[in-house]
Amino acid sequence: MKKFKYKKKILFSAVQPTGLLTLANYLSVLKHWKFMQNNYNCMFCVADLHSITNFNNNYNLKKKTLDILAFYLACGIDPNKSIIFVQSSVKEHCYMNWILNCFSYFGELSRMTQFKNKSKNKKVINMGLLNYPILMSSDILLYNSSYVSIGNDQFQHLELTRKIARRLNKIFGKIFNVPKNLIFKQGSKIMSLLDPKKKMSKSDSNIKNSIFLLDKKVDIFKKIQSSTTDSDNPPKIIYDKKSKPGISNLLNIFSILSDKTILESEKIFMNYTYSDFKNKLSHVIYKELHEIQKNFFYFRNRENYLIYISNKGSIQASKIAKKMIKIINNKLSFL
Ligand code: TRP
Repeated sequence: MKKFKYKKKILFSAVQPTGLLTLANYLSVLKHWKFMQNNYNCMFCVADLHSITNFNNNYNLKKKTLDILAFYLACGIDPNKSIIFVQSSVKEHCYMNWILNCFSYFGELSRMTQFKNKSKNKKVINMGLLNYPILMSSDILLYNSSYVSIGNDQFQHLELTRKIARRLNKIFGKIFNVPKNLIFKQGSKIMSLLDPKKKMSKSDSNIKNSIFLLDKKVDIFKKIQSSTTDSDNPPKIIYDKKSKPGISNLLNIFSILSDKTILESEKIFMNYTYSDFKNKLSHVIYKELHEIQKNFFYFRNRENYLIYISNKGSIQASKIAKKMIKIINNKLSFL
C-alpha cells in the first residue's frame, strides 16, 4: 500500500452522496482534483454521514455512495496517489465531532445560512442539521488538512472550521493547521441555464436549469439550446455579466472547457448567431461529459473494485485519524 509522502500538505474534500452531480460541481471543484493530486496529499471522502441529515432524501444510500466513488475515479482521481474513502467507515469522524461540539457555540451554528435555509418551514428540525458544519470541521481537522476544495456554498462552513481550529489552538497550543480553500476562480460561478442570475444547483426543482454529469447528448443540446440569453439584434456574444448574464455564463463554460480565455472565446464567436454558438458549446460540453460518462460506467460496473478501493482508503485514513485522536485525548487529559 502506497504511503503518503509527509512533506506534501494534506488537501481534504468530500461530496455528499445525494442526487446527481452537475456541470457546476464538476467545473468548480471535481475537474481540478486530478491535477491537485500531484501537489498535495489528497483525501477524497464520500460524506455519507452528512447526507443522513436529510433522511427522507436518503433512499438507496449504498447505490449513491458507489456512484460518487465511480465519479471520483472517472474524473481522474488515482487511488495510488490519493486516499478515497467513505466517511462512515472511519469512526473517528464522529468522535472528533463530539469533541468539537464542545468547543462550538449554539449561536454560531444557528446563524449558518445553510442551516437557516434548510430548517425554514420545518415543523421539526433534527440536531444533525444544526450540527452539520461541525461534522464538516471534524472531517477537515481530523487529518490536520492544510487545504480544502469546496464550492461557494460551503465557504461559511470553512470559516467556522477555521474559527474552531484557532479556538482550540489557543486553548491547547498549536494542534491544527488553519485550513484554506484552494480556489479556482474561473469555474467557481456557473449559473442556472434558465435563470442566469442564480447559481446552477443539483437541488434545483427544475432540471432544465442544470446540466448533470450523466445527461444524455440530446438533453445537453436541448438544455443549452433553450437556455436564457437576450434579444440583442444583431446578436452579441460578449462577456458582460450585468446586462448579458446568460451569454456570459455560456461563454464562461465554453472558455473553461476549451481552455481559452474569455477574450479568445469572444473572438471565436464574433460572427455567430446565438443558436450556432449554443450548438458549438453543446458539442464541447458533450465531448467532456462523454469521456467522464464512459469512465463512470466502466467503474460503476465494477462494484467489487469500488469497494476494494474504499476499504483500502479507509484503512489509510484511519491511521492518520488515530494519530490526531491520540493528540486530542492527551490535550484533553483523558485517562
Ligand atoms: N458539505 C459539503 C457539501 O455539501 C461536503 C463535505 C462534507 C465537505 N465534509 C467536507 C467538503 C469536508 C469539504 C470538506 O458540499
